[in-house]
Amino acid sequence: MEGRVIRDSIETLKEAGRKAPKLFGIPTGIEGFDDLFFTVKVEGDRVIKTPLGGIPSLAVVNLTGLSDTGKSLMAEQFAVKQASMGYRVCFVTVEIPSPFLATGLRERARAMGIRWEDIEENIILVDASTHSILREDIPSLTNTLAHVIENYEVKSTVIDSVTGLFEAKEMMARGIVRRLFGFLKRYYQTAILVSQKRSGHEEFSAEAAGGYAVSHIVDCSVVVFKEMIMSKYTASLYKRPIGSMIRFLRIDGCRLCAHDTRTHIMEITDTGLVRVGPSLEELKGGD
Ligand SMILES: Nc1ncnc2c1ncn2[C@@H]1O[C@H](COP(=O)(O)OP(=O)(O)OP(=O)(O)O)[C@@H](O)[C@H]1O
Ligand SMILES: [Mg+2]
Repeated sequence: MEGRVIRDSIETLKEAGRKAPKLFGIPTGIEGFDDLFFTVKVEGDRVIKTPLGGIPSLAVVNLTGLSDTGKSLMAEQFAVKQASMGYRVCFVTVEIPSPFLATGLRERARAMGIRWEDIEENIILVDASTHSILREDIPSLTNTLAHVIENYEVKSTVIDSVTGLFEAKEMMARGIVRRLFGFLKRYYQTAILVSQKRSGHEEFSAEAAGGYAVSHIVDCSVVVFKEMIMSKYTASLYKRPIGSMIRFLRIDGCRLCAHDTRTHIMEITDTGLVRVGPSLEELKGGD
C-alpha cells in the first residue's frame, strides 16, 4: 500500500474542541476599530451579535496598504495598548532601526495618554533593519523570535513589515509568510503582519507585495487606502476641502470571527493617532 496512515492527525471534534482556544477580543488602542469584529451570544432562543472588542485572540492579521496610509501608526498603537495592559509584545522592526521605532512608540504613548514607565518593559524590539541576517535568513528570524517569546512570555507579535523579508525575492513571499504563520500559530501569538502594497496593486483589494500570498495564508486581512479629494461631490460628502487626502479602512476577510465588511473612513489625528470613523454607507445616510 502506498503512503501511511497518520494516526496523529485524526481526532474527534470533541477532542479538538477541548484544545480549541477561546475566542475573545485583543484591544488595539485604535478608536473605532475594535468594534468592527463580532462574536455571537445566545440568549434563550435569540442569537445576538456582540462586539468582540478587539482583533480575535491568536489571529494572524495582515495589515496592508500603499505607503503612508497609516499602517505603522496602527501597529505601534496596538503594541502600546497591549503593553499598557501588562501584556508583553515583540515588535520586529524591518523598516527602521530600533531607536527610531522607540521614538515613534514614545509619541504614540504620549498621544494615547499612556505613561512610558507602563510600557517600556513590555515591548521587546527585534531590530531586523540593522541586522540584515534577520531579513535574509528566516530560520535565524524565527529562532530569535522563539527566544524572545519564551524568555519574555510574549503574547503578541508585530512585524513591520513582512514585505521587507522578501523585498528582492517576491517569488518567495508565499513560502516565507507560510513559515511565519506556522511559527506564530505554534507559539500561540496574536500577530499583526504589516505588508506594503505597490502602486500597481489594486488599491481596495488585499493584494500586496508577493501578490495575494499574504492574504491567502493569514487569518484576517485589513486593507487601508487613501484618495485625493478631487470633486465637489466627494468634498461635500467627506466634508473635506478639494485636494486634501481621505483615508479608508476595510476588513477584507477574517476566518476567526464575524466582522463589519463595509468601507470606513479612517483618519490620522494631528497627534499622530489613527481613528476609524463611520462607514461610507453611514456617511451617505443609507444605513
Ligand atoms: N506624529 C504624527 N503626527 C501626525 N501625522 C503623522 C505622525 N506620524 C505619522 N504621521 C502621518 O501618518 C501617515 C502614515 O504614516 P505611517 O508611517 O503609519 O505610514 P505607513 O502606512 O506605515 O507607510 P509606509 O508603507 O511607507 O511604511 C503619514 O502621512 C505621516 O505623515
Ligand atoms: Mg510603515
